[in-house]
Amino acid sequence: MNTMLWTVDAKGDLSTNYPQITQAARLLQQNETVAFPTETVYGLGANAKSTEAVAKIYEAKGRPSDNPLIVHIADIQQLEEFAEVDSSQASALMERFWPGPLTLVLPCKQGVLSTRVTAGLDTVAVRMPDHPVALALIKEAGVPVAAPSANVSGKPSPTKAAHVIHDLNGRIAGIVDGGPTGVGVESTVVSCTGDIPVILRPGGVTKEQLEAAAGTVLIDQGITDEEKAPLSPGMKYTHYAPEAPLAIVNGTSEEIQRLIGQYQKDGMKVGVLTTEERAGAYRADAVRICGRRDRLETVAAGLYDALRSFDEEKLDYIFAESFPEEGVGRAVMNRLLKAAGHRVIEV
Ligand code: TXA
Ligand code: MG
Repeated sequence: MNTMLWTVDAKGDLSTNYPQITQAARLLQQNETVAFPTETVYGLGANAKSTEAVAKIYEAKGRPSDNPLIVHIADIQQLEEFAEVDSSQASALMERFWPGPLTLVLPCKQGVLSTRVTAGLDTVAVRMPDHPVALALIKEAGVPVAAPSANVSGKPSPTKAAHVIHDLNGRIAGIVDGGPTGVGVESTVVSCTGDIPVILRPGGVTKEQLEAAAGTVLIDQGITDEEKAPLSPGMKYTHYAPEAPLAIVNGTSEEIQRLIGQYQKDGMKVGVLTTEERAGAYRADAVRICGRRDRLETVAAGLYDALRSFDEEKLDYIFAESFPEEGVGRAVMNRLLKAAGHRVIEV
């Protein structure tokens, strides 16, 4: 398949980019797949009402069919067509965080969306992205747009069009390049089907921010406890992993450098995932900086690009610094732990 590539200046006047967005929207209407930028990561979109279209997402990504998709909307009227909003917390969260990096799991109205979107569940995950290109595209397409992250299943989510091209060129109908995404980790997924909202996946909106808007919010124990099955189907899969095995180290840069030295002495090629503050401490074969430790949002923004860039180096092992699990650091550590297959070294 020949993949169309359009470049759009997301900061400019979107009306000047209208031809690209209109062409991309046409492909969505023809039940084809189009990758587009959101404020979190790039999504791979398809018409959520069409089983033919949604099947192409699963096919292109190699995604397990029991892992449901997030439906993206451009305005609140679109929501009423396929979801029930009967929770006051859900209303408060929408009011406060949409458009933005928050996905709500709500009761699903039957017969509107393809059942492949929800993987047969009676709930649906929805979000309104805070990105002018995404909003313009969904509006122009005129349908709710199902979109998982636009990576091959198991790889880190794409934060640049180059990542999408690397993973999916030739396998999807089009890519809208709107430059690098901002948040860098995926949206926070919150279930609003019970009395108290439950975080199913930590992400761009923090627990503290959610609680300020909607009162008590719980965290699914399946996220933090390896023994428990997560409530969200997607959270059980290994994800975000670079090709070389990766371990998180709870230790100082001196201790991490000592480990690097030991592995190198055994003939291994070793990488390290670090921050601007500590990068100078390492003599590894590949030193990758994901952001600044004193500004965890920069770490979130740079994490996936750094993880992906290790693959160019053909490493035998990667060590990653660990981060405080507060604010967006919860999402960062959740993704790093998955990338590491939960290997954590205490030194
Ligand atoms: O930031 C994001 O959320 C990005 C951008 C493109 O919007 N999308 C994204 O989609 O990360 P994806 O498919 O990679 O992750 C969706 C997550 C999965 O963990 C999936 O299992 C969960 O949402 N999910 C979807 N529908 C659900 C449902 N009805 N109940 C529980 N979890 C659901
Ligand atoms: Mg994903």
